[in-house]
Parts: sequence; C-alpha cells; structure tokens
Amino acid sequence: MRRLNAVAATMLGLLCAVPAWAGDPVKGERLFRAQCATCHSPHPGLNLIGPSLAGVHGRAYGAAPGYRYTGATPDAAVVWDDATLDKYIADPKSVLPHGTMLYAGLRDPAQRADIVAYLQTLP
Ligand code: HEC
Repeated sequence: MRRLNAVAATMLGLLCAVPAWAGDPVKGERLFRAQCATCHSPHPGLNLIGPSLAGVHGRAYGAAPGYRYTGATPDAAVVWDDATLDKYIADPKSVLPHGTMLYAGLRDPAQRADIVAYLQTLP
C-alpha cells in the first residue's frame, strides 16, 4: 500500500510538473491553418504576405531569410520566446508598435498556447 501511494505521488508530481500553459501542438496546427496561414507558411524560405515562421521560436524578430520587414528598426530587440509570442498573438501592436501584421489578436490564452506549442515544432 505504501508503495502504491509512492507511485501515485510520483505520478501526481509528473502531472503537476507540466505547466498550466503548455499548449497542444496538434490543436495549434489546426489553429495556425485557420488564423495565420493566409499570411504565413510553416515552410523554410517560403515567405507570403508575412515571413515564413519556420524556426521562428527562439529567434530574434526580423530574421526570416529573404523577407522584407517594414516595421523593423525600432523593434529589432524582440526575441520570439514563449512569452513574447503569446503577447504578440494576443495583440501584435503590444510587442511591435510599428509592426505591419494586420491581425486583430486571439483572446483565448489556451488557443494561444496551442499555437506557440505548434510554432516550437517548426524546424
Ligand atoms: C494579415 C496577415 C497576417 C496574419 C493573419 C498573421 N500575420 Fe504574422 N505577420 C504578418 C506580417 C506582415 C508580419 C511582418 C510584421 C512586421 O515586420 O512588422 C508578421 C510577422 C509575424 C511574426 C514575426 C516573424 C519574424 O520573423 O520576426 C510572427 C512570430 C508572426 N507574425 C506570427 C503570427 C501568428 C502566430 C499568426 C496567427 C495567429 C499570424 N502571425 C497571423 C502578417 C500576418
């Protein structure tokens, strides 16, 4: 019985170790197709209205090869980690006040976390 309790405690610990905001990349891909794919490709080097988002997670703003960023200069210090991506998807102007991404913002934090989780999977 004591052993069982220890196992249960370990499993509970593992469950709790997953942060509340951890998104689901599969749902995120679906949301990406619906919300972002008109302007963004997940494929390296394929820039549409917006830059390709391949490899964007962990990278600095403005680094997709071959894309002409129009809002770049004053916003160059942004790095796309979980927190900045979440903020940007919620309200693009809050991160890049001079940016050119015409996107109204996604209110649901769980959906934003799903999209961020999907972006993390893009090589
Ligand atoms: C109407 C077109 C449009 C839509 C829809 C759109 N974007 Fe963008 N996005 C852009 C443009 C244009 C830029 C370049 C912005 C700039 O340089 O100011 C951009 C830039 C970005 C960047 C910065 C890329 C880099 O290389 O620094 C990220 C990240 C991003 N978008 C994510 C998203 C996500 C996630 C969604 C969906 C939730 C989305 N965008 C929806 C047009 C769009």
